[in-house]
Amino acid sequence: MSYKNQIAAVIAPLANLEEADTLRLLETPKDPKMGDLAFPCFQLAKTLRKAPPMIAAELKEKIQPALAEAGVPVGNVEVVGAYINFFLDQEAVAQDVISNVLTAGDAYGAADLGHGANVTIDLSSPNIAKPFSMGHLRSTVIGNALANILAKLGYNPVRINHLGDWGTQFGKLIVAYKKWGSEEAVRKSPIPELLRLYVQFHDEAKADPSLEDQAREWFKKLEDGDVEATELWQWFRDESLKEFNKTYELMGIRFDSLHGEAFYNDKMDRVVTLLEEKGLLVEDEGAMVVKLDEFDMPPCLIKKSDGATLYATRDLAAALYRHDTYDFAKALYVVGGEQRLHFKQVFKVLEKLGYEWAKEMHHIPFGMMLKDGKKMSTRKGKVVLLDEVLQQAIDDVRQVIAEKNPNLENQDAVAKAVGVGAVIFHDLKNYRLNDINFSLEDMLTFEGETGPYVQYTHARACSILRKAGYEPASEKIQLPAGALEGAESWAVVTMLLNFPHIVQRAGTEFDPSIIGKYAIDLAQAFNKFYAHVRVIADDQAVTAARLHLVAATVQVLRTALNLLGLQAPQEM
Ligand code: ARG
Repeated sequence: MSYKNQIAAVIAPLANLEEADTLRLLETPKDPKMGDLAFPCFQLAKTLRKAPPMIAAELKEKIQPALAEAGVPVGNVEVVGAYINFFLDQEAVAQDVISNVLTAGDAYGAADLGHGANVTIDLSSPNIAKPFSMGHLRSTVIGNALANILAKLGYNPVRINHLGDWGTQFGKLIVAYKKWGSEEAVRKSPIPELLRLYVQFHDEAKADPSLEDQAREWFKKLEDGDVEATELWQWFRDESLKEFNKTYELMGIRFDSLHGEAFYNDKMDRVVTLLEEKGLLVEDEGAMVVKLDEFDMPPCLIKKSDGATLYATRDLAAALYRHDTYDFAKALYVVGGEQRLHFKQVFKVLEKLGYEWAKEMHHIPFGMMLKDGKKMSTRKGKVVLLDEVLQQAIDDVRQVIAEKNPNLENQDAVAKAVGVGAVIFHDLKNYRLNDINFSLEDMLTFEGETGPYVQYTHARACSILRKAGYEPASEKIQLPAGALEGAESWAVVTMLLNFPHIVQRAGTEFDPSIIGKYAIDLAQAFNKFYAHVRVIADDQAVTAARLHLVAATVQVLRTALNLLGLQAPQEM
């Protein structure tokens, strides 16, 4: 139980309040001089008809002995105006927290909120034969971090890559490939070559509109199962996927399912039948739609006038399939904010079909990645290829290492961990709904609020332990009095204390940036501690205590980085 809960439990009966209300009233003062927690007495004044400062003074007299009796580690209780300020007993708390972190190890911060329930996470989901866009990068890193965080909270995340592997673009690709492509060129560099063909198709189609007709014919053939069309489709998909997989591997991301849009080709009749049975399918300007007027939304398109099904139809089929297969407690869709309406419509249609579980579906939108303050477009020349970004980041880091730490072992592995980590962290330190500006330079500095900075702080702390020959304690640690005195040590201790709460907030608010910001704060607090406190002291027991604090910081920094999908090299 947290100290806040413990204190609330003591105050509640003495103040004649519910424990939950007491908990809500207890606040964390901005200024640490006002204590670690403060209880305002304004609200009590209404019922007690006394001045708040008087209530505070009287209540304090009762609270102090009760805290001692309950064994809550509060050192000092002070009244300032209408507030009762609580100062935790820093030594007792430090002792507790550091022991907890070191005993729990990688499990520190874990909680069983999920009881093993499945949560499907629709993430990444790039479109075959098109480059992996920055939007897909955002989905990948946010989705993967959420999966890690939910796993830490006792859920079983199911990572689903809903590949964009179906659609009219395949008709265009087949035409372009047959006219201007070669097997060799596609094999050599699938994504750039397929993109080149796609772009050429659009260029030439301007002068020769018959190309569009040919593309439609080929897509029709594909839909009808034509052998040649299907083989080409399968090949384009395989080659693209091979390339995407290199990127995923670099980022350390694996999926539980690669069922993309094509997988639902034979599963959409069911959706149409269900909608018909419920009388939800109506004709609208030649198309079949589900009306959503009562929710002030435009109708959800199910079938075009030519019988072709749509993006929403596939997502409806996918939702049914996922519910059947995983019986999910929650279903998340990590997809850009542009698709807000789409997901609202899909969820509402499921609700109209009578599925209670539709309430557990969440679209997790995110903002755009900008370049020089402008939206990046997929049109030629303006795309930033993720692959190149990652390679560039790795190369840059490799150079820094060669200059600063030429004797480092595993330089390649470290450069990879730091370069890729920089790209991931640059995204995850920002609240996901904010647009972010793409800048390799910003990502890679070792000074600012970056991945390399946090990783470097972690590596530095590891090196302190290494040089001191630190051995993890085999029994419960005992910190000697005064070893961790001072605001700098206390700042680190309270941050470590907060970590489990941070992980839970990140999980319930679907917001990895809570952990990203926390990692920066902890790294800063630690660096301040290290600048002010001599870890290797004259007294051996004091040194040991400080090294335990360093070890606990290493543990939590590593866990935080791992949750975000970054590695934590021990040396860099
Ligand atoms: N492939 C789509 C796109 O790039 C994203 C798919 C998102 N997932 C989904 N279930 N609709 O826009």
